[in-house]
Amino acid sequence: MAAIIRIRNLVKAFGENRVLRDVSLEIPEKSLYAIIGQSGTGKSVLLKTVLGMFEADSGRIWFKDTELTALSPREKNRIRRNFGYSFQNAALFDSMTVGENLSFPLQEVLAIKDRGQINKKVAELLAWIELPGIECKWPDELSGGMRKRVGVARALMMNPQVLFFDEPTTGLDPVLSETINNLVTRVNRELGITCVMITHDIPSAFRIADRIAFLDQGYIIFDGKPEELVRSDHPMIKDFLRISFNELRI
Ligand SMILES: Nc1ncnc2c1ncn2[C@@H]1O[C@H](COP(=O)(O)OP(=O)(O)OP(=O)(O)O)[C@@H](O)[C@H]1O
Ligand SMILES: [Mg+2]
Repeated sequence: MAAIIRIRNLVKAFGENRVLRDVSLEIPEKSLYAIIGQSGTGKSVLLKTVLGMFEADSGRIWFKDTELTALSPREKNRIRRNFGYSFQNAALFDSMTVGENLSFPLQEVLAIKDRGQINKKVAELLAWIELPGIECKWPDELSGGMRKRVGVARALMMNPQVLFFDEPTTGLDPVLSETINNLVTRVNRELGITCVMITHDIPSAFRIADRIAFLDQGYIIFDGKPEELVRSDHPMIKDFLRISFNELRI
């Protein structure tokens, strides 16, 4: 399968803190790809650099055949509209209803004025995330899990080709984690959207990802299928997996 995102020799530091030292990876189109690693190792920085929230110090990033790192800021932004993201705290605007939260990107970013068309899309997506008819609710009336699902629906409003999830299940109880994992899987399978999940929730990554990359101290130390990761002889990976799965058994 062709790569939808390719990263070559990506470097990003904050002063002396060299977070991404030499990151290269290829995310296959339509895959459900997990990037795992210890807390503080640079997973969110990697995601934000791909999304253009941080400028890379060096290295190259492609979306399909277009090299993002060679484009003007304006062109870069245009291409990056193919990327959607859903961050850890869902980051809904509390002063807007659910419906307004969802219509905001279409109105503000795409300048679509047709209210009927927007409302129809909002209703369709709320039904798709199995929360039909909650347009008029305020974010603080929703449970944490519902907020997360609405955050995913908002990202889907822009019809992204790649959807990035930063720690979608971290801090959730097991039942809610499963709901979110199922939603990510549906986004991938039913909508055919490439999903990139950044997480230190290893069991979730194993349950749903078809490819896993392991980021450690600024480098990708593994990139392959989950069953290959389990067989890895890398001491750091073995330790990390042992601890993650032991915690589950307690
Ligand atoms: N805006 C920033 N300015 C300076 N340093 C930053 C900034 N954002 C992140 N860092 C640093 O980059 C390093 C990696 O942070 P990052 O948030 O990417 O970790 P992470 O792997 O996502 O961890 P977690 O699993 O806890 O979310 C940390 O040392 C952090 O202090
Ligand atoms: Mg993070």
